[in-house]
Amino acid sequence: MTRRDPVSIGDLRDRARRRLPRVVFDFVEGGAETEHTARANLDAFTAWNLIPNVLVDVSHRSQQVELFGRRLSTPVLLAPVGIARIAGSRGELAAAEGAVHTGTVSVLSTSSSVPYEAVAQAADEPQWFQLYPWGDRSLTSTLLRMARAAGFEALVVTVDVPIMGGRERDLRNGITSSFRPTPRTCLDMLRRPRWLVDYLRHERIVPAVLSELSAATGRHTPMLAARGQSMINPSHTWDEVDWLRDQWPGPLLLKGILSPEDAGRAARRGVDGVVVSNHGGRQLDFALATLDALPEIRATVGDRVTVLLDGGVRRGTDVVKALALGADAVLIGRPWIYGLAALGGDGPAAVVDLFKAEIDRALALVGRPSTGDLDLTVLRAAGTRAVGADGSGRGAVVYRR
Ligand SMILES: Cc1cc2nc3c(=O)[nH]c(=O)nc-3n(C[C@H](O)[C@H](O)[C@H](O)COP(=O)(O)O)c2cc1C
Repeated sequence: MTRRDPVSIGDLRDRARRRLPRVVFDFVEGGAETEHTARANLDAFTAWNLIPNVLVDVSHRSQQVELFGRRLSTPVLLAPVGIARIAGSRGELAAAEGAVHTGTVSVLSTSSSVPYEAVAQAADEPQWFQLYPWGDRSLTSTLLRMARAAGFEALVVTVDVPIMGGRERDLRNGITSSFRPTPRTCLDMLRRPRWLVDYLRHERIVPAVLSELSAATGRHTPMLAARGQSMINPSHTWDEVDWLRDQWPGPLLLKGILSPEDAGRAARRGVDGVVVSNHGGRQLDFALATLDALPEIRATVGDRVTVLLDGGVRRGTDVVKALALGADAVLIGRPWIYGLAALGGDGPAAVVDLFKAEIDRALALVGRPSTGDLDLTVLRAAGTRAVGADGSGRGAVVYRR
């Protein structure tokens, strides 16, 4: 790294904010309504302090994890983010390439702005596919066959979008179902020449998956686009999960689980994993912060189901806390977009490398040589203090706020 290279995700975010037009930065950064949940996701990590053990041999450290039989170099995955080319022309390709380069995996959004064939070809290792199930099962079925044939390994079904959340920044900026530029947004874009040149030099941004489906089914793109609206389908129930379980032979995950009851339902239906997620605070405002939802969900599903978490993960110590509270791994959404906007196509890989360096440092400093050594003993809720023995005679202590 040179002296001017960003040294934290916060630095990358600052650079992304300077480089992107306001309307684009707001689209990425915004949460629903008051944005309470988007902030709460971040704050939940600050509610835990770390208690290091010293004089532990930490000369050899490992943050590798195994998910569905595949070994990853780090417990940090790249979350599905739609229309990523808006932040940088390599878009979702950069995420997949960065994941392969750093030994992890990316999840391609149904709303990808890069054809998924291209993503599958660019990545030497199988990536994961995120699905918004269509109302029309035959289209969903075709899409899944195509994703499977292209080599996608795991299917991540997003279940927290029965309707769209109220993204007020987007409404104020003129983004509803499509973008209507105003004189203010045009002027703002002109003031971001680096972004503008990158944007104008490349193909128009479209939901690429619609074109691919159109080619596969012979139906016209506009008709599919209209049907695409039904990707957001308020009538889906758990029956859809049973149907999808039959359709997808590989690992199946549900993304957007916050309630332990729902996690239990998912486990009983043969789902392989859940992503504890509130869509980065972009759907239900005042939804529980994901880190606060995690322990009960892990307690409910035990070891039957892989538990991932996303929302607000910005530091290696955040990853350590999530793993100590029961996550098998985490996903990052906005951080890889900051990297893409700030550093171009190499950005997502640089972001994962930053996380890896911070996780490695955190493991050494808390005295846990590997991610497998992390458990609740490394954590203490901030603002609590020990008030004395609990009377059991086992040395356990009672904590109070
Ligand atoms: C700009 C943007 C677009 C997103 N698009 C999708 C999507 O297409 N599908 C999906 O399941 N989640 C989508 N998400 C949610 C992310 O997958 C993830 O849950 C969230 O970003 C995690 O929070 P974080 O950004 O704080 O890391 C999107 C998030 C952002 C910020």
